[in-house]
This record gives sequence, C-alpha cells and structure tokens, in this order.
Amino acid sequence: MLWMGIDVGTGGTRALVINLKGEVVASASRPHPEISMPRPLWAEQWAGDWWSAAKAAIQAVLAELDTPSALAGIGLTGQMHGVALLDERGEILGPSLIWCDQRTQPQVDELNQKIGPERILRNTANPLLTGFSAPKIRWEQQQRPAEFARARHFLLPKDYIRFQLTGEYATDVADASGTGLFDVLGRRWSAEMLAALELRESFVPRAFEGPEITGHVHAAAAAATGLRAGIPVIAGGGDQAAGAIGSGLVEPGLASSTIGTSGVVFAVTDQPRADAHGRIHTFCHSVPGQWHVMGVTQGAGLSLRWFRDQLGGPERQAEIAGGGDAYDHLAKLAATTPPGAQGLFFLPYLMGERAPHLDPLARGGWIGLTAAHTRAHLARAVFEGVTFSLRDSLAIFRELGLEPTEIRLSGGGARSSFWAALQADIFGVTCTRLSHTEGAAYGAALLAMAGTGGTASLAAAAANCLRIADSFTPDAQRAADYTRRHQVYRELYPRLRETYRAIAALEAGPAGS
Ligand code: XUL
Repeated sequence: MLWMGIDVGTGGTRALVINLKGEVVASASRPHPEISMPRPLWAEQWAGDWWSAAKAAIQAVLAELDTPSALAGIGLTGQMHGVALLDERGEILGPSLIWCDQRTQPQVDELNQKIGPERILRNTANPLLTGFSAPKIRWEQQQRPAEFARARHFLLPKDYIRFQLTGEYATDVADASGTGLFDVLGRRWSAEMLAALELRESFVPRAFEGPEITGHVHAAAAAATGLRAGIPVIAGGGDQAAGAIGSGLVEPGLASSTIGTSGVVFAVTDQPRADAHGRIHTFCHSVPGQWHVMGVTQGAGLSLRWFRDQLGGPERQAEIAGGGDAYDHLAKLAATTPPGAQGLFFLPYLMGERAPHLDPLARGGWIGLTAAHTRAHLARAVFEGVTFSLRDSLAIFRELGLEPTEIRLSGGGARSSFWAALQADIFGVTCTRLSHTEGAAYGAALLAMAGTGGTASLAAAAANCLRIADSFTPDAQRAADYTRRHQVYRELYPRLRETYRAIAALEAGPAGS
C-alpha cells in the first residue's frame, strides 16, 4: 500500500508518496507564481494557482509510480493562516492574503478593542497577530465589502486543495488553531469569536482531527489529476504540525528545532500550555488529544543567507569553483574561532522578531566588536545569535514547565554537524538527527497512513518509518559557558527596544513629510 502527502507551500506545492516502511517512492514539486506584493506589507497568492500546482505535482508523482492503484490515502498540509474566500458555488472571490501578509494591524487593534485581549486569549489560547486569519477576514469585510457580501466559505490554503479533490469544506484542528477563530482548548470553532466577527458557523470549514477522513476523491478531481476516484483524503495539518509529525514528534515531551528561512522550536504537550504574554503560539497538534507550543525566530537561516550574500564572497567563490556548498564553508570558517566568538554577539532580528519579542521594528546587528575580530568571528556570532534566539523560545517553554529531553533537528540547521553540535551546546539538551527528513509532506503522508488503517496508530507509523541517524550530547563545560553568554544576549534587546523605535521614526522621515 502507498500513501500520498501534499504540501501547499509558499514557493510551490509538493507531492510525495511513501510505502509502509516510510520509503519515499516518488516525489515532485511545482512552483507557484511569485507572491504578489502590490504594497509594502501586502502578500497575496491566488488559490487557483495552488490547485494548478497541486494538479501538476500529483500528475508528475503518479507518472513515477509502478502501481498507482496501491494508493490508499492522501494527507494534506500547507502554509498556515491564509484566507481563501469562496462564493456559494465554490468560486474564488479574489486573491488570498497569505501568512506573511502584515497589513492588518488596524484590524488587530480594532478587534482587541472590541473583544478585549484577555477574552481573545481565553477563547483562542493566543493573542491576535497580524498574520492570523481573523484580522484578514476583517480586512476583507471592511476593504472589499462587495466581494465579501458574496462570500459563503473561508478555507485555509491546503483546504482549498481538499475542496477541489473532494468537494468538502473541511480543515484540521492544527491549521484551524492559527486562524484566531478557534477554541484551541476545546478543539472546536469559538462561537464567541465567530459572533464577534459576525460570521456564521457555516462560513468556517468543519474541523477534524489530523488523521480523520474528511472525504474521498470525486470523479471530476480524478479526471483532473489521474487519481483513482474514491481514495480517502484525511484532514492532515498545518505545515508546522505536519512537519513535526514528519520528525517523529508524536508524543508529549518530544521537541524539535527546524531552521529554514525562519527558525521554529516546537514541543508536544498533553495539555494546552498557553503563555500569558502570548510570546509563543499554543496550537492543537495533529495527534488527537495532543497540543503543541511553538516559538518562531523570523530571521534564522535568513541571517546566514544574508551573511553569505553580503560578506561571504570567498565561500561563494569556493562553491562556484565546485568546492562544495558555501554554507558548509561558512560553518568551517566559524569553527576556526572559539565558542562565544571572543565576546561578539549577533542579534538576528533582520526581519523584526516574533518569539519572544513580537516586535516588527527590532533590527539586527553585532555587538562587542573589537579590532581583534575577523570575518570568522562575525560568522560564528551569526550561528550563535540565531541559536540564542531559539533558546529564548525554549526558555519560555521551560517557564511553562516543559523540559524537553531530546530535540530533533531538521532543515538547514541540521545539515552541518557544526550547527547541530552548537545547538546541543546552546540548548543544553541532546539533539538528534533522523536518517532522512522530508518535511511537512512526509508528515501528511504518515497521517494518511495512520488514518486509513495502514498502521494501528500514528506512533506506530512514526516508529515504522523513522530512524535516528546520530545524536549530539551537550558538552557540559561549553553548555555552562553558553548559559552565561545567553544571559548577556538576553539583555541586549530590552536595552535596544527604544532605539529601534527611534530608528523607525528616523526612517519614517520628519513628521508630515
Ligand atoms: C506558522 C507560519 C509558517 C507558515 C508558512 O505559524 O507562519 O509556518 O505556515 O510556512
């Protein structure tokens, strides 16, 4: 038997197929058109483009399979927080505001004033953020009233693919958690939040647990994709929850650190644990009866990419000359300097910061430069600063009583053994790498495997399919040293907070200009 996972990402949609042993037997991606950014802070995509990419990726993957008839289920995952609005016939009503769209501060302020931040936190376990779906829906109500008057359904990105495949308006509890309309504790839509936005219950999709079957591929979708009609489609999860399942995070106590453009630390809990200050997200997990917390560093891999592009000339040259990846050279360069980079600190706030500061105006920089420092120290400080920022989120997990005993690494931060060992030392926790990590699409396929009876449970699916390849134990002395250095790092942002505001005011220009 085979299972398909489909990930509606930001840059493109990926489909992969796995067997019962968890081997990837086929995989294909198709790009989306560039994100449309008609104004600063705006980010839009068309739901129809997601479906075009999904159809092409599914077709490509099916063409690779010897026995497509063995497909027993499909799991869906994708970028969270986006808003697709459909009319009563299921037609798209306009571009979708996606997860990184930041235009909705006025709507967040208005809803906070109308409902009250405490009530929002009580109802949804999280503060409202500009990226979440609720303020985007509010924006549509206010700014596109004619289109909104015809809107009958709101769907998250991956759920538009589900609608196209099965005709059902459905979602899963993990993705729904990022809407700002979902009662994360009760694992159902919040009647109070829906009422506050004057939305009917039928406007939001029905919410299922991750492995539950939400519908079956219908005849028109079968004709459009080449899939067999009748294949069950399971609920799946938002990309973070499904990615965590793909890393084997199926039991409370397990945690992960995923460094891509942004960096995410994630921990599974058996009870919802919400931070009173809303510095980290508290969402339902894709495992029934489990929740998760998640802290996001906006500029994680992005900081290193910036360093490579702006200051990593020699490493890029080495790559162009065929001498291996520039990032590996940067890791080697950083490793020539001692832990702590001789008192040099890097603040990775190149795109503002989510956890723990929730401050779009924060800026990056090095502190502690002396004439003795070299490019190698600058590089090391970048690796360390990004990892310190992730440790800030782990510190909040600890405040909530969560003490992970193992952190699974994936993404760019897991590629180099240098960064993997650095994470173990800075987190002070054993870090492990799996023999293969395939991300969210893989997690969605595991959810499909468990949800269609391929294995008795999700834990069994993960145990069948995932193997730990290696582990990094923190060095006691270095870990203690990094704890002292992290204390200094933590003091930098509060001291600079007002300076960031002053810089923003300077950039806004003289009043009235
Ligand atoms: C999660 C988040 C991202 C998006 C895009 O809160 O913003 O993971 O889902 O990948």
